[in-house]
Amino acid sequence: MKTRVTIHRDFAISRIDDRLYSAFIEHMGRAIYSGIYEPGHPQADANGFRRDVMEMVRDLNVPAIRYPGGNFVSAYDWKDGVGPRDERPVRLDLAWRSKETNQVGTNEFAVWAKDAGIEMMLAVNLGTGGLQDAREYMEYVNHSGGTHWSDLRRAHGVEQPYGVKMWCLGNEMDGPWQIGHREAKDYGRIADETSKALKAFDPSIETIVCGSSNDEMPTYPEWEREVLEECYESVDYISLHKYFGNRSRDTLNYFGKIEQTGRYIQTVGGVIDYVKAKKRAKNDIYICFDEWNVWYHQRAEDKQRVKEWDWPEAPPLLEETYNFEDALFIGGLLNEFIRQSDRVKIACIAQLVNVIAPIRAERGGPAWRQTIYWPYQMASLYGRGRALRAEVEAPTYDCRVGDDISYLDVAVTHDDAAGMLTVFVLNRHLTETAELSMDMAGFAPDGIEMHKVMQGHDLMATNGPETPDKVALDDCRDAAVEDGQLRGRLAPLSYHVIRMR
Ligand code: AHR
Repeated sequence: MKTRVTIHRDFAISRIDDRLYSAFIEHMGRAIYSGIYEPGHPQADANGFRRDVMEMVRDLNVPAIRYPGGNFVSAYDWKDGVGPRDERPVRLDLAWRSKETNQVGTNEFAVWAKDAGIEMMLAVNLGTGGLQDAREYMEYVNHSGGTHWSDLRRAHGVEQPYGVKMWCLGNEMDGPWQIGHREAKDYGRIADETSKALKAFDPSIETIVCGSSNDEMPTYPEWEREVLEECYESVDYISLHKYFGNRSRDTLNYFGKIEQTGRYIQTVGGVIDYVKAKKRAKNDIYICFDEWNVWYHQRAEDKQRVKEWDWPEAPPLLEETYNFEDALFIGGLLNEFIRQSDRVKIACIAQLVNVIAPIRAERGGPAWRQTIYWPYQMASLYGRGRALRAEVEAPTYDCRVGDDISYLDVAVTHDDAAGMLTVFVLNRHLTETAELSMDMAGFAPDGIEMHKVMQGHDLMATNGPETPDKVALDDCRDAAVEDGQLRGRLAPLSYHVIRMR
């Protein structure tokens, strides 16, 4: 199939916010306990954090991490997780019907995040908690000292405040499953008041209000309108969540969900603009896509297990094993985030370790990178700078979730600081090679500095403890710069990252 892409150095979509490649980790399953933290593991450091997992996290260059939930946060008391460990209560986690030992809390997590070089993004409990609780948490975390809550932190051995800048106002408050779920207007009111209270402490912080849990919620997109009408001027971002799957075993339809996500983002963008106009507001708010990933392989079984089990401690939960098809999908989805980077400023892969995660770690055993680790790493390392507009001419297909979907999915970034042009391409055709020619007006690259590919695997191929590198990135030589154009032959079902200077 013949394909043509055109870019121009001056035709940019937006400067990409580095936080587009953030992550999320929740107190659930084995994400924290035996995921990042496992005292006694041969790889544990002096604080009990797994060095093998840490190394894999560091290699992702994650800018920020959302913590501690998720559904968990809506019944979590942050005070349970601070102070002497042997005095911390064991609690029932209502979201995942598990036991929470509270051996990791804000201060331990902060140590891990600092070691990993990741900025914390904290969520407050607006389910069973509320404004007062959020206010106290802010004081504990961010105030220097000389007050009740800040001195308590100091008494807990943390002299310096953390200066956390990103604060999530609850989680998925539109979902009837959420502990303390609210109607849109009620939630908008409490979010507004909480955001104002937190900003009264420090106007430089940013707050994120909950949008819909996904674009199939019956209240979507009315939820966004009603919530924003209550709090537009006091918040900075509205969150979007969406999880994906290919239950019907229809690969092209699965890949069509990339474009469907673009429509979701644009719709919420439209609601933002509508509310801004209606309120005659001056400020802009952006999208924080703070939960996204593939989640379907064993979702039904997990749902059943959670109902039946007897409040276990750190049980295996949502431990999805990702295949090559999922990796291709994630490559395309990250391309969509780059293309929508004028609206989406923060996005968080959900989650980071064990629970629907690019990294898996066995209790007492090895850790390994799942298939989806690789496209996430490529986007995070190289999808920085400016997102450039790419005009793509390629054959298209229709599927259940959309029509006229291009077989070639392209995102282009230009990192002015490093002087690097990066092209991310997914050829989602099932059988045809894409003959690519790309015009690069304003650029005159000498040649290709790096070309990585994921290709040639069975769509169902996975990585595991015995075969950790089965599906990974390879070097590729199927493209070249000729007569000022990028030309290549991209195999069917392949994901490419091509870097030129
Ligand atoms: O990431 C798993 C769960 O998915 C989160 O707890 C919740 O916010 C979402 O429904």
